[in-house]
Amino acid sequence: MSSGDLQAGSERGVNRDVNLGVAPVTYGQGDRPPRGDYGRARSDYTCTQDAARYTAADHDTYRRLYARQLQQLPGLACDEFIAAVGRLGAADRIPQLDAISEHLHRASGWQLVAVPGLIPEEAFFALLAARRFPVTDWIRTAQEFDYVVEPDIFHDLFGHVPLLFNPTFASYMQAYGAGGLKASSLEACELLARLYWYTVEFGLIQTPQGLRAYGAGLLSSAGELQHSVRAPGPRRVAFDLQRLMRSRYRIDSYQAGYFVIDSFEQLFRATAPDFTPVYSAVRQQIARDGEIDAGQVLPGEREFQA
Ligand code: PHE
Ligand code: CO
Repeated sequence: MSSGDLQAGSERGVNRDVNLGVAPVTYGQGDRPPRGDYGRARSDYTCTQDAARYTAADHDTYRRLYARQLQQLPGLACDEFIAAVGRLGAADRIPQLDAISEHLHRASGWQLVAVPGLIPEEAFFALLAARRFPVTDWIRTAQEFDYVVEPDIFHDLFGHVPLLFNPTFASYMQAYGAGGLKASSLEACELLARLYWYTVEFGLIQTPQGLRAYGAGLLSSAGELQHSVRAPGPRRVAFDLQRLMRSRYRIDSYQAGYFVIDSFEQLFRATAPDFTPVYSAVRQQIARDGEIDAGQVLPGEREFQA
């Protein structure tokens, strides 16, 4: 990293959590530091997609992951996702982010940027607020085919990018980024992270055809997609912002509970108001009634049936 990089970063107003060439501290990730070479990232944590490094085995891993997920989508993924997944381009090798970016920018004003792996939350929020979606540029090993602890390029691309073509969802993601920068100053990132988890990663949507998944963690998962939409075990309750912010989540197993939205418009509207009083109200309620465990259903709450 050169001082030129630092300069470029601050010119864009992205001088928070400046990359010092070492892996960031992230919480909830276990005892291993994130993988990825942070030395090659710019000060805003973006890097050049290192496409020359992909081996034939890497491309094959992508091809097999894509094929396995694609055939699961009918009846489980929401229509907006299915309509846009083809816009990722080549399904038989790891795509070039710049090529997707060009189409995406025309559709919704978003761009993709490569990152070496997980990045600090303020840097992440700043990118989202600028309609730049960070995509990890490495792919899991063949041994991790079914499960990888950290997000890789397959999760980030296949899971997240199709819905960035949807204008309402795309606006929600930008608003989330801006809200994240504010949450940092209010020390409310833990509450806001629950919103990301239960919507962007593990959200379900009610449609005339039944429940469908829109969360990237579900759409990129070999087993949890079917589990979240169809299995009798997990509990599914209606999206409610304050209720959701009181709810803990698990990072090491399928979710025990999911939140269901009616539409992306509902999600966007419900999250549009200033969260400053919402965070206070949630903190007060937690102090009084406690947090809600993953998969817990409260008295009087209606559940959605699989
Ligand atoms: N309205 C939120 C705030 O004021 C911003 C936000 C929008 C956060 C959408 C998350 C999702 O903080
Ligand atoms: Co993700």
